[in-house]
Amino acid sequence: MKFSDSFLDEIRARLPVSQVVSRRVPLKRAGREWKGLSPFNKEKTPSFTVNDQKGFYHCFSSGKHGDVFTFVMETEGLTFPEAVERLAGEAGLELPKPDPQFERTAKERLGLFDALEAAARAFEEALQAREGREALLYAERRGVSRDILQAFRIGVAPNAKDALKAALLKAGFTEAQLLEAGLLIKPDDGRPTYDRFRNRLTIPILDGKSRVIAFGARALEEGAEPKYLNSPETRLFDKGSTVFNFARARQSAFDRGELIVVEGYMDVIALHQAGFANAVATLGTAFTERQMELLWQLAAEPIVCFDGDRAGEAAAARAIDRMLPNLREGRSFRFAFLPEGSDPDDLVRNKGASALAACLATARPLIEVLWQRELKTHAIDTPERRAAFEARLETLLAEIANTRVKEHYRREVKNRLFALWREQGSTRGKRAAEASQRADRSRATPVPSSYGFATVITLALVNHPWLLDRFAEEVSALDIKDKKLAGLLRVVTGIIFEDGNVTGERVAERIGASSHGKFFARLWRDSAFKRVAFIQPESLEADVAAQFADLIYRFRALPALEREVRDVADELSDGSEAEFEQFSALQQQVAKASSTDVAEDAGDRIFHDRFADKIAQVTREKSLWKQGRRPEKQG
Ligand code: UTP
Ligand code: MN
Repeated sequence: MKFSDSFLDEIRARLPVSQVVSRRVPLKRAGREWKGLSPFNKEKTPSFTVNDQKGFYHCFSSGKHGDVFTFVMETEGLTFPEAVERLAGEAGLELPKPDPQFERTAKERLGLFDALEAAARAFEEALQAREGREALLYAERRGVSRDILQAFRIGVAPNAKDALKAALLKAGFTEAQLLEAGLLIKPDDGRPTYDRFRNRLTIPILDGKSRVIAFGARALEEGAEPKYLNSPETRLFDKGSTVFNFARARQSAFDRGELIVVEGYMDVIALHQAGFANAVATLGTAFTERQMELLWQLAAEPIVCFDGDRAGEAAAARAIDRMLPNLREGRSFRFAFLPEGSDPDDLVRNKGASALAACLATARPLIEVLWQRELKTHAIDTPERRAAFEARLETLLAEIANTRVKEHYRREVKNRLFALWREQGSTRGKRAAEASQRADRSRATPVPSSYGFATVITLALVNHPWLLDRFAEEVSALDIKDKKLAGLLRVVTGIIFEDGNVTGERVAERIGASSHGKFFARLWRDSAFKRVAFIQPESLEADVAAQFADLIYRFRALPALEREVRDVADELSDGSEAEFEQFSALQQQVAKASSTDVAEDAGDRIFHDRFADKIAQVTREKSLWKQGRRPEKQG
């Protein structure tokens, strides 16, 4: 017989190892432990230790190690049950009565299968008989074909108190068996047992070998509660380790390399009829670890369907939390959200199989749904909130048990955060708001990190064509990723190369007339330093050139900085807090160095603020010239 862990623990708690051992081996205290001569080897110096706190002995000479039970077995040649019996007596405990559940023979288990199979047959036959007329009409109304009724072995539990009980007793099953199979209900008040399923459409639930282990039964009358009545958990039916339609879907899922997971019985049945034989259902339970393993037996990334409403979103959110700890290499789930208000059954019935296929095609990976869920539920509009958001993600990812998968999730999240913070810019007042509006307008095309600098460099050249004279080599070596911007820069340099003395106004005019005109106009309009457009005072040349050189230098340094971030990301070990912080700091540095906002700030500073005084002076001089007056010579 098998003993429960708690019973064995009780014996261990009552009998210190030293007490059991000392009857055979004289022991001496040695600190927290006891020492003695090994009972397994002849020896002169004691190498045998006993630790009562930890409940074990260890023999250094023989390497033997164990607890009270193994000690008695090893030194008295008893079997484990004999050792337990002996020590239980010593501990003053009575042996537990043999566990009836455990003593049952395999034959009795088989008896249960037989009872359920007999019930399934009886229900199937009833559906074809007169008493099944109403149920048959119901199935017809729902569009379930005869073939499908047969394939899924759908039947009816007649509207009678104990029709099944009577039939199965007559067939030789015992009442105890029927009770244990979950087919009967036994009232507490001692009244006779009666049929669990009455006046319901019955859908057998099969195990991996296609044996009936339970039933799901749908009420035939609208409004009857519960809508679905399921078999109770029995020795054969463990809801958490069962997936409806597993055996039938296996081949199809395997052939297609795709598995569809839905919520309900009728969804699976409707999908099967619509040509999706690779569908299973979790039957309203949360995703259990066992169910996930079963699903992964059929496909690496099963597609889980959720209703497109709030409830579906919430269900998906719950599912994600259950999935995270169980993810492993190559094993995940994809998420498909159905049009609002329709389950898979409704969808294929009303809109056809293609509507479902289209929906499945939009299935999104777990990371994507998780990311959106977190973004939706957390504000990230201040530094503190952004920090909290990061911390929250870290906590979530810690749920992933598989270290390799966890590491890759961390990397992905880091990259997403990196992009997010960059896109979000800073919270610095109006400039930030303008920047984010600009970002909104151009959201369709992701902005590469060096975009801001490249823009400033290009516009600076339009502003100050003479710069090209000094920086021709550097400018032509610039590696600008954005095709449009690179094209614009080529045109700008082309115009300037053509005529070394061309003015900024003229360059701008010519671009405006070219095919790049619209794009240029937009950049120019959004640019922060257009205020100093075309001012080209001799006295500023050296300073402007120095700033331009600095811009080019910073632009060229960006890829290296980004590479560094990638390298650091690759080197991150298990991602300690400190490492993560260091990494975040580096990321922020890059984000900052490369943000459009900062680049324009630079441009602004270079071409405006820093020389504001001089520009003001030059402007005044110019206007004085225009008015035909000579400016007074300054100190
Ligand atoms: P739904 O309530 O979404 O029903 O339950 P459904 O599948 O669309 O059913 P029909 O189309 O009205 O027939 C989804 C699943 O949740 C479980 C069942 O597995 C059901 O298929 N459920 C639901 C129960 O177990 N008991 C219930 O009372 C209701
Ligand atoms: Mn439905």
